[in-house]
Amino acid sequence: MAILDRYALFGHPVAHSRSPWLHARFAELTGEGLSYEARDVPPGDFDQALAEFLHGGGKGLNITVPHKLAAYAAVDELTERARRAGAVNTIAVTPGGLLGDNTDGAGLLRDLEHNLGLALHGMRILLVGAGGAARGALGPLLDAGPAELLIANRHADKARALAADFAGAGPVSGGGLEAAHGPFALVVNATSASLHDEVPALPGDAVDPGTFCYDMAYGSGPTAFMRWAADRGAAGTADGIGMLVEQAAESFALWRGVRPPTAQALAELKRQAGA
Ligand code: ATR
Repeated sequence: MAILDRYALFGHPVAHSRSPWLHARFAELTGEGLSYEARDVPPGDFDQALAEFLHGGGKGLNITVPHKLAAYAAVDELTERARRAGAVNTIAVTPGGLLGDNTDGAGLLRDLEHNLGLALHGMRILLVGAGGAARGALGPLLDAGPAELLIANRHADKARALAADFAGAGPVSGGGLEAAHGPFALVVNATSASLHDEVPALPGDAVDPGTFCYDMAYGSGPTAFMRWAADRGAAGTADGIGMLVEQAAESFALWRGVRPPTAQALAELKRQAGA
């Protein structure tokens, strides 16, 4: 029997990750032979776990919290989008060494534009949050050609610094949550507030019936931000399950050279989540 190419997810915690299911499903749908496991790698243990994985012949990795910066430092070469994101969520083992990529932003854009049918060109967009998730989303959002992109963060100085880093990439500015006055066509929540069932303290006019509200987080059922947006009559809401599926597909394509069909896997995952 042929030995399957080995892939894995490194993170902490990873017990509830849907990535092993997704990559197994992608392998079935594309006929690719591979194995994929989630490995709980405690903070500080990334380099050791990576060395063991490579010694065992591993072909590629996904990396999630808290190791995306350690992965960024460990690779031999970075894709342009990983350099811009300042973080690595995908490693491919290549003949030239370890290639670090970041598929999160591309996954977000694919979900917004392809799955949800939003045309970002010319939109006024609000990006809430200024941490790693916001940084990863910013480059691809600006590439889509919005009329204006405002970053709003609880600590306004972080939003201003992030906007300054991307000043050459499009019409971006930063400020505090309280200054995020609408109308916006799209609000993307890139904070970790939903993980604590909290909602960023945005002004009431940040969302109106013309606003689509997207939460990069997901859980069972609508997130706190989605419920808040729906209460304000938002045009539509979505959680980050589609982004999860699309970033996984981008990683799979990097490793295997074939892009898996995502619509079916996304529908199945939503059914499993009871959405
Ligand atoms: P990640 O990698 O998920 O982006 P992070 O870098 O720790 O995580 O960033 C978390 C983000 O969520 C930050 O923008 C944080 O705001 P501050 O920088 O002001 O701390 C934001 N955040 C977390 N909880 C929040 C809350 N309850 N309300 C508003 N913003 C919140």
